[in-house]
Amino acid sequence: MIRGGNPLHGEVQISGAKNSAVALLPAAILAESEVTLDNLPAISDVAVYSEILRDLGAVVERKEDAIRIDPSNLQSVAMPNGKVKLLRASYYLMGALLGRFGEAVIGLPGGCNFEPRPIDQHIKGFEALGATVTNEHGAMRITAKELRGAKIYLDLVSVGATINIMLAASRAKGSTIIENAAKEPEIIDVATLLNSMGAKIKGAGTETIRIEGVERMHGCRHSIIPDRIQAGTYMIMAAATRGDVTVEGVIPKHMEAVTAKLRELGATVEELDDAIRIVASGDAPYQAVDVKALVYPGFATDLQSPMTSLLTQASGVSVLSDYIYGNRFKHVPELAMMGANIRVEGRSAIIEGGPLSAAKVHATDLRAGAALVIAGLTVTDGITEVTGVEYIDRGYDNLVENLSRLGADIWRETVSQ
Ligand code: EPZ
Repeated sequence: MIRGGNPLHGEVQISGAKNSAVALLPAAILAESEVTLDNLPAISDVAVYSEILRDLGAVVERKEDAIRIDPSNLQSVAMPNGKVKLLRASYYLMGALLGRFGEAVIGLPGGCNFEPRPIDQHIKGFEALGATVTNEHGAMRITAKELRGAKIYLDLVSVGATINIMLAASRAKGSTIIENAAKEPEIIDVATLLNSMGAKIKGAGTETIRIEGVERMHGCRHSIIPDRIQAGTYMIMAAATRGDVTVEGVIPKHMEAVTAKLRELGATVEELDDAIRIVASGDAPYQAVDVKALVYPGFATDLQSPMTSLLTQASGVSVLSDYIYGNRFKHVPELAMMGANIRVEGRSAIIEGGPLSAAKVHATDLRAGAALVIAGLTVTDGITEVTGVEYIDRGYDNLVENLSRLGADIWRETVSQ
């Protein structure tokens, strides 16, 4: 529940990145001794992943924002159903179990289904490494007598496929080259962990990644990079409420695309060493801007829905196009219930700025949920009720507490739907 209209003021601390954490947890099982991850976000996707690792036989212990994973007695247990269906990133178990045991049976992933999300490039990669992949009633059985390094060209740039192939290839015989690899910071984070575990990976963060397979991998300690999507969401919230917020514990370089768009809109953005300050308290109307969601270092698709809400606050018509997920617009009908004037044409949303008003709306996925909270923070005529908040809990830790501390009037209630 949000009674909007309060400008956000103060500091907010960003936690570790969800999309790194959900890859680093399965990556840890490639080791044969203990891995500790620091800066772990307290989100539900991490809690579910920890349970899955326990079900596979790992000893998992959490202490504050650190997690200790001892995978020495792990086995490749078949997981055709159950918890793996709750998460998108359960597909990383395919690469990790394949690398360590030469076999994996994992149900096709669930998670935020804002549109069909194929995994053909992951499978193409496993097959190139010598694995046989079959679909058994919705679960993937992946087996290999021996994984051998290969040259793999990805038909499209995929974060998940790049990481999954890195996981399996780390323990393959010989060298693997991934061409047209994704360059997201989370790829570098996974490669850094794997290298600390004894892997030999070069080029992560560029479009060509080279992996020299190793026979064994060992434990280590690693700190997860800050969550650039969470940081971007708070930056957008600060701008949308005309506030003054310092987003702390971030890598400003990772935020360049959103920083540029907020400046173009008319907000002041100061880049500090490991923080970004957004000063948006002026009265001058925001300029409409065009935004294209692209692969990194372009504007992130995960910030496309939050940005849609901000653009309703600009004067004039903005065009926001998503070149990664062209149908990721389930937040638009909900924003329309709040009075937003948005038309979807192909992979673009055409947004005509204007004030929003309070309504009951439903989050259909994680970032759509964030978009609705942002919209709710801007309205001045009542209480916005957002249901489906379990999606928001998948990726934003302490959202209500953080926003309350920044001055928002926001609270949780159990409502009958
Ligand atoms: C990751 O998903 C993120 N999830 C997503 O964040 C994010 O939206 C996406 O990358 C793009 O940045 C995780 O890291 C867990 P992709 P991923 O493979 O890896 C197509 C969030 O809100 N494709 O890079 O699954 C695909 O359909 C989540 O935090 C294929 O066609 O995305 C899409 O159009 C949602 N075949 C494009 O490629 C494949 O085999 C990029 O997808 C793989 C992908």
